[in-house]
Amino acid sequence: MNKTIAVIRGDGIGPEIVNEAIKVLEVVAKKYGHSFSYVDADMGGCAIDKYGDPLPQSELDKCLAADSVLLGAVGGPKWDSVPGNMRPEKGLLRIRAGMGVYSNNRPAKIWPQLAAASPLKPEIVEKGIDFIIVRELIGGIYFGDHKTFDENGEKTSEDVMKYSESEIERIGRIGFETARKRRKKLCSVEKSNVLDTSRLWKSVMHRLAGEYPDVELSDMLVDNCAMQIVKNPAQFDVIVTENMFGDILSDEASMITGSIGMIPSSSLGATSNGLYEPIHGSAPDIAGQDTANPIGTILSAAMMLRFSFDMPKEADDIEEAVGKVLSEGYRTGDIIGGGEGLKLTKCSEMGSLIAEAVKNSR
Ligand code: IPM
Ligand code: MG
Repeated sequence: MNKTIAVIRGDGIGPEIVNEAIKVLEVVAKKYGHSFSYVDADMGGCAIDKYGDPLPQSELDKCLAADSVLLGAVGGPKWDSVPGNMRPEKGLLRIRAGMGVYSNNRPAKIWPQLAAASPLKPEIVEKGIDFIIVRELIGGIYFGDHKTFDENGEKTSEDVMKYSESEIERIGRIGFETARKRRKKLCSVEKSNVLDTSRLWKSVMHRLAGEYPDVELSDMLVDNCAMQIVKNPAQFDVIVTENMFGDILSDEASMITGSIGMIPSSSLGATSNGLYEPIHGSAPDIAGQDTANPIGTILSAAMMLRFSFDMPKEADDIEEAVGKVLSEGYRTGDIIGGGEGLKLTKCSEMGSLIAEAVKNSR
């Protein structure tokens, strides 16, 4: 198969981790006789520096024309003082909206090799951590009006959180469908004791439940969910939630699996053209040092093969290769805690080891 992948390296550690994912993709291509071509697109701080805009239309167009998009990370202190609507992160919000990728899938699964790196007690980890957060990605407070104005003689700000029934329904369906393919438990997370958007959310989820009788639906308030994720993560199979709650809970969920550096994500909408990115940020403090963990990005590339290119065997190969390299004791700095005899590994070495393991697997 021939596929075109738009590549957004972005800022900070973005270029380093994306290069490792491409290294692995190239081995997959060779092994299975595929051909991947890569089109570079600029987004984030580097695009601000180059064009004065975090995502010029020309760059978005490259992403829309590709079969999928692989993204590193954007942002950094260098652009902290630019106005809100021109920040690097605005590029990220614009590409998500521009591609219409409303459904963001963030797995929280513990690799047994990394159990010691989890900050949770062993008896909690032993019960298993294997759930998915389905996060609504192009609505809610991230996309409502943002303004700052003078009121009663002082500076006042406002961010609007808004959801329509249809926006809730389409992500709700992804939640039910995802649960249906797993352990058939869906937890809808909201703040319906305070917010109107959450009350609407809850009512739509319950209406949809009638169409998915095989899936067990439960409701949970977001504050309680934050607590339950550390108290008893084994209870969760699929969590479906709105944009900002999903942002916050997915960082928490990643940490209990050992490191945010391990977690990939897929973002999909109505077409197979998806956006694939690790859930961590650009880590400017370690940029350029070859010490970042490329595994979140490499696993994002695996998700691209699985969900956008219909290449499940190829995706399995990458995931198995990651497991093998971890089993051999190789660790980047973020995941080295807790074990004896582990080998501190550079970003580029980690990518090469995983690529080599893909090449050598059956
Ligand atoms: C994420 C990030 C982004 C978000 C930021 C960088 C805008 O935290 O993908 O989780 O909040 O969505
Ligand atoms: Mg986040």
